[in-house]
Amino acid sequence: MPSHMFLACVFELVLLRQSADFKLSIATLRMSGILPSSGDIQLQAESLAARLKRDSVVEDVSAGRGVINFKVNRKLLVQKVLESFGKEEEGQFGLNSELLNTLTRGTTLVEYSSPNIAKKFHAGHLRSTIIGNFIANLKQCLGNNVIRMNYLGDWGMQFGLLGAGFAKFGCQEKLKQNPLQHLFEVYVEVNKDVEQNEEMMQAARAFFSQLEQHDSEAVSLWQQFREITVDEYQHVYKRLGVHFDIYSGESFHQQQAQQVVQKLQSQGLLKTSEKGTGVVDLSTAKDMSSVSTVLRSDGTTLYITRDLAAAIDRKEKYHFDEMIYVTDKSQAIHFQQLFHILLAMGHSWADRCEHVPFGLVRGMKTRRGEVVFLEDVLDEARARMLRNMNQSKSRNYTFDWDRMLQAQGDTGVFLQYTHARLHSLIQRNEGVAAVLFDPSHLLEQTSVPVLQHLLRYDEVLYQSAKDLQPKHLVNFLLKLCHLIASAHRELPVKGSSQDVAQARLRLFSGARSVLANGMKILGITPVDQM
Ligand code: ARG
Repeated sequence: MPSHMFLACVFELVLLRQSADFKLSIATLRMSGILPSSGDIQLQAESLAARLKRDSVVEDVSAGRGVINFKVNRKLLVQKVLESFGKEEEGQFGLNSELLNTLTRGTTLVEYSSPNIAKKFHAGHLRSTIIGNFIANLKQCLGNNVIRMNYLGDWGMQFGLLGAGFAKFGCQEKLKQNPLQHLFEVYVEVNKDVEQNEEMMQAARAFFSQLEQHDSEAVSLWQQFREITVDEYQHVYKRLGVHFDIYSGESFHQQQAQQVVQKLQSQGLLKTSEKGTGVVDLSTAKDMSSVSTVLRSDGTTLYITRDLAAAIDRKEKYHFDEMIYVTDKSQAIHFQQLFHILLAMGHSWADRCEHVPFGLVRGMKTRRGEVVFLEDVLDEARARMLRNMNQSKSRNYTFDWDRMLQAQGDTGVFLQYTHARLHSLIQRNEGVAAVLFDPSHLLEQTSVPVLQHLLRYDEVLYQSAKDLQPKHLVNFLLKLCHLIASAHRELPVKGSSQDVAQARLRLFSGARSVLANGMKILGITPVDQM
């Protein structure tokens, strides 16, 4: 490999991916076939180091023990990173990188939150809301056309139970006052009741079957339940800063679900089980050892049948290039079966559907007891956060890896705190800021790591886009805040000469803008004051 080619690879690594000074091990070079794997390692290192050119980016190349050391021109690094903040539009830093341009763009439909009307909105729905919102924000920031969809669990046997239960335990007055609470109470009562009372179960089945046949009385009660619940949810979403382009739901696809069943039948995919239900055989041996039920023996459809219809309908309506479902992992098999059946029906685009699962939330209780209502969760979070802030205002923040890597804790607060601090620093020094700055004022131990870290932003977005996990961005931002904290301490703006102050401000405002953008992707609106 000619040395300039080799260097080109190294520059890419050094400038875009790694720390300022860079080591390359001879073992790696041997393994990747760049160097022959025989001979004396040390001699190889020395002879290669001697052959490699120094230039404006790499100031020095030297041989160490089994490695080659590259010393990078820090001034150029500083200039390269900070220049782009001046040139690019606010919020665009890192987004036009070559790495991110390798990602395919198109229409992405993200389905998230998707609570069940009448059933409880559990912590899993909150998680789906937050993670789904993150995925939608990320995809949007990477240049995709994003459709945000909430697919309400607004159909199914639970409405049979609720409808029949409401006749026995319900009260219109209570429903108006505290709809979610009351529907939940009714739901709990009726579930207890059906266990001992076969009549109640029959009433529930009858109600659901009336619904499926569009009986006007049943439909109007159902509609009332749906509307008040959606209203309540919208308040909550507003509080969370989350929005949806489309409120869809299982109820939208009843008719289509029946058509799907017919289609399955005409394609020879529908089988009848011993119990008289309609199933699709998913086993490889085609011996019915693994089936998915799509039709009850009474002819009503199921969750998966409606999902099949919904997916096909979305493809026709929105022509998505990819579709992402965000739910807890207990539904992993459901989605596997869904995609499997879609493919069997000839919908090759099911390959571009993805289920993003997350773990269940345990140990989340509120004052009302075991049952977690979203409103309670939010109230509790606010109360704890305020308490926490009162305590931590007077205390220094001690960094702790264990805490930092925990899902809970005051990590979001730390991001906010750092952002607010940067914002006020920049505001206070508005008069000092300048377009031109001298990079030689930013070569300190504390400034270079901030810049190197900022350079990793595109890589972090890339990783996030690949596995759709927020952890890369969360960790990146927390680390950034810790680096900023040191820089803040050691690189004062106030009291420094004009030149130095200008250069430092440039660093801080670059860091602030990346922090703000990262936070927005996570769904956290950066505050200017705390
Ligand atoms: N409503 C469901 C639940 O709470 C989640 C819906 C997930 N999306 C879907 N297309 N099945 O469990």
